[in-house]
Amino acid sequence: AREPVDELINRLLVTVEDFPEPGIHFKDLTPVFADGRALRAVVDALVEPFAGSFDAVAGVEARGFLLAAAAAYASGTGVVTVRKAGKLPRQTYSAEFELEYGTATLELHTDDLPPGSRVLVLDDVLATGGTLSAAAELFGRAGITVAGFGVVLELTELRGRRRLGGHRVRSLIRT
Ligand code: PRP
Repeated sequence: AREPVDELINRLLVTVEDFPEPGIHFKDLTPVFADGRALRAVVDALVEPFAGSFDAVAGVEARGFLLAAAAAYASGTGVVTVRKAGKLPRQTYSAEFELEYGTATLELHTDDLPPGSRVLVLDDVLATGGTLSAAAELFGRAGITVAGFGVVLELTELRGRRRLGGHRVRSLIRT
């Protein structure tokens, strides 16, 4: 029988102690992306609940890009990038959000997708939800509907899901 996607992820991910700072148990998903079978299973599992309900896939810098391009290719849609401040060359919407220390800004080109489009937004990890709620704000300003959010790993203690309003959120594993 085929190994369930959550078991595949849990078998391949590596927990790195004290990265990026002491006391943090960092879940490194790079071995999941590096495994062809796992990458395909992850992308398929993120797309499946939203099949037919989106016209484009968005990836959040940086690891979300890996998932979004693969999901867009698999679905026959295009891909758009939600980027850190100063990376996109043309007119953007920008949304600031809180980090543990200070703030960060995400940007989206104003005209990457036409208003009324429906976008599936992918990232590797949902932690506090600051990143994905900023992404939701950007799409809202652009008149684009968020069809849903998909992440590989959800850190449930941080309650990021609560910040994502009524949107559908698919996570493949939770800790
Ligand atoms: C990580 C992760 C998510 C975000 C989740 O990105 O890839 O984008 O944090 O955290 P949140 O839910 O608390 O906002 P990071 O800032 O490390 O950027 P990177 O992917 O470019 O390394």
